[in-house]
Amino acid sequence: MEDEAIPAPIPKEPPKILRLEECVVNRIAAGEVIQRPVSAVKELIENSLDADSTSISVVVKDGGLKLIQVSDDGHGICYEDLPILCERHTTSKLSKFEDLQSIRSMGFRGEALASMTYVGHVTVTTITMGQLHGYRATYRDGLMVDEPKACAAVKGTQIMIENLFYNMAARRKTLQNSADDYPKIVDLISRFAIHHTHVSFSCRKHGAGRADVHTIATSSRLDAIRSVYGVSIARNLMNIEVSDTGPLNSVFKMDGFISNSNYIAKKITMVLFINDRLVDCGALKRAIEIVYTATLPKASKPFIYMSIILPPEHVDLNIHPTKREVSLLNQEFVIEKIQSVVGSKLRSSNESRTFQEKTMDFSSSSPTATSKDSIKEPSPSGIKSQKVPHKMVRTDTLDPSGRLHAYMQMKPPGNSERGSCLSSVRSSIRQRRNPSETADLTSIQELVNEIDNDCHPGLLDIVRNSTYTGMVDEIFALLQHNTHLYLVNVINLR
Ligand SMILES: Nc1ncnc2c1ncn2[C@@H]1O[C@H](COP(=O)(O)OP(=O)(O)OP(=O)(O)O)[C@@H](O)[C@H]1O
Ligand SMILES: [Mg+2]
Repeated sequence: MEDEAIPAPIPKEPPKILRLEECVVNRIAAGEVIQRPVSAVKELIENSLDADSTSISVVVKDGGLKLIQVSDDGHGICYEDLPILCERHTTSKLSKFEDLQSIRSMGFRGEALASMTYVGHVTVTTITMGQLHGYRATYRDGLMVDEPKACAAVKGTQIMIENLFYNMAARRKTLQNSADDYPKIVDLISRFAIHHTHVSFSCRKHGAGRADVHTIATSSRLDAIRSVYGVSIARNLMNIEVSDTGPLNSVFKMDGFISNSNYIAKKITMVLFINDRLVDCGALKRAIEIVYTATLPKASKPFIYMSIILPPEHVDLNIHPTKREVSLLNQEFVIEKIQSVVGSKLRSSNESRTFQEKTMDFSSSSPTATSKDSIKEPSPSGIKSQKVPHKMVRTDTLDPSGRLHAYMQMKPPGNSERGSCLSSVRSSIRQRRNPSETADLTSIQELVNEIDNDCHPGLLDIVRNSTYTGMVDEIFALLQHNTHLYLVNVINLR
């Protein structure tokens, strides 16, 4: 076989390497830090927490694309700092790289506000302690637009981001098409609210009278969870604590709340704070899911709140542009330890389950559920709704809701006369429904003939060709004949 000639490559000049303009670099970097409206909200709330605020309120318009406004009552920003406030890498939280090892504030890069000015229009209103009035300044592309203007202000800082991603057409389009970011923002603030219990949080849509998250400062974590996630979740939580003071590299403390076997949800809710930072840790989440699946298969999608405290030098904060992930020294050890404590907590709670009891009301007309653990309160979002037997479609004739007596009023036992009436009603209906069952008995056959001869032919036709609808009480039944509905005294019918 002859070799086919491979065309020789045409000699080509290598493409020229150019230095990107600074505004392009900044906008690319900003797109990484502020990936979507919820990332801007997270940065602003963290700034407010760093400013020692005790109250933080968030207002959002159009899922954050039109407006995000975060107001706090923190220490404010000095007038002299306003000109460089939104320049890249300007921060009050870090001065040298080594500080990063022991930093306790959420922010440290001096990048968040700058990034917002490259992808949105930023306005800052702030007042510091002892000032008679505040200042308002606006920012674009890292720079302050005009001199700050004196204005009336309440304690703290208010930061407004308008028209987010106005200069990133593709990002804006995907966000407009995708589901609104507002639920994500509500979820984020809910998470902050249950950890920072000494701070009150609120979040609402612009123009809405009611806040979707509204918490007041409290000293009890469980109260905070109850007010944010609802009573039914708080009721099904168990406190969990782990601490390891063993080898030097594995010092840590964890405390939190984990759901018990009564909490059934479609997906796991994992609220994790490491050194007071809201972070994700896929490995820990998976490890916990594994224990739940093995121990409580029906409750394998738990609600978890955990706060892990480690020496700051054991946590690397600088591994993700949004600071969403951190890396821990001895991560496997910490995860294994937490996993094993969660496992033993679940096993012991499963061995001694507590049920809520409800006394049965025998005079009630509806058939009551007998299983104690099927009695639960209405569930909040995320928890599967409880099945109420008498509201279910019959699928099993053995189920009480599928039987005839389920339609009758339950009376206290002891009335033998009524009881015998009932059994005769049952037998007469059974005979009428299945004549073949009794057709071979002569006595019955004679009775049938006697009735046929004696009775009113019109009535007989109604009874024979009617459809049984159901019992109204112990005596009357509803029958449908053609287009008519008849109330029939079934005892007299015999
Ligand atoms: N709500 C606020 N109250 C008081 N000061 C604030 C507030 N928001 C921002 N600042 C000041 O502005 C500076 C810049 O904020 P920015 O969020 O850009 O950076 P950072 O918080 O220092 O670091 P990071 O980029 O990691 O968030 C902060 O260091 C802080 O001094
Ligand atoms: Mg910040």
